[in-house]
Amino acid sequence: MSTSIFERRSVNYFDPEKPLRDELLREIIELASTAPSAFNLQPWEVIAVKSREAKERLHALANNQDKVLEAPVTLLIIGDRDGYKESNPVWKELEKAMGEGVHGAKQAAEFLYGSTDERRIKFAESNAGLLAMSIMYAATHFGVDSHPMSGIDFEGIKKSFNLGGSKEVVMAIALGYFDTRKQLWPKGYRKPYEELVQQA
Ligand SMILES: Cc1cc2nc3c(=O)[nH]c(=O)nc-3n(C[C@H](O)[C@H](O)[C@H](O)COP(=O)(O)O)c2cc1C
Repeated sequence: MSTSIFERRSVNYFDPEKPLRDELLREIIELASTAPSAFNLQPWEVIAVKSREAKERLHALANNQDKVLEAPVTLLIIGDRDGYKESNPVWKELEKAMGEGVHGAKQAAEFLYGSTDERRIKFAESNAGLLAMSIMYAATHFGVDSHPMSGIDFEGIKKSFNLGGSKEVVMAIALGYFDTRKQLWPKGYRKPYEELVQQA
């Protein structure tokens, strides 16, 4: 895994001639879906944008970032602000594992993730953000390049891809293979440990 962390880069240019096999996409997503989530509720969904028509629609809503057209697949990472509610089918699985204890968990989740708008948005975005990161590392693990994007029209994408009210577009991730005819940007500066970590 540490290799995936070191090797992952945001690849700005994808080779438009290199497809991503559906089975490989499945392997990436299945590995990434082992990501942690609050109460293991997995309040996330992924839309795999692959058709020319959908790519063009997304391109226009992603500030015309050409990687959306060049990459074989761009994933829309969706977080659900209602994912803590009874209506989330994962609760049924939790009930099997927890038995009666699930009632207390539901009450706690209602308060922790549903009691304010801020908590609801944090719930959706923090969990789906972890899925997003896991997808990028899983892609690297399988030799697939990625590029996250939040320079996108979140509301426009919601409308264009028919996402309901509680669904949030958290980011887009282009997946495919780096176009080796292009130059990869040098690895960027990272804050040193002393600046990054405050001791308390
Ligand atoms: C949430 C998020 C949103 C980003 N949005 C964009 C974007 O819209 N366009 C873009 O070119 N790069 C985007 N980036 C890529 C960053 O610029 C890149 O991760 C950063 O420069 C570090 O480079 P590296 O990922 O190659 O290590 C985004 C990265 C993240 C994590």
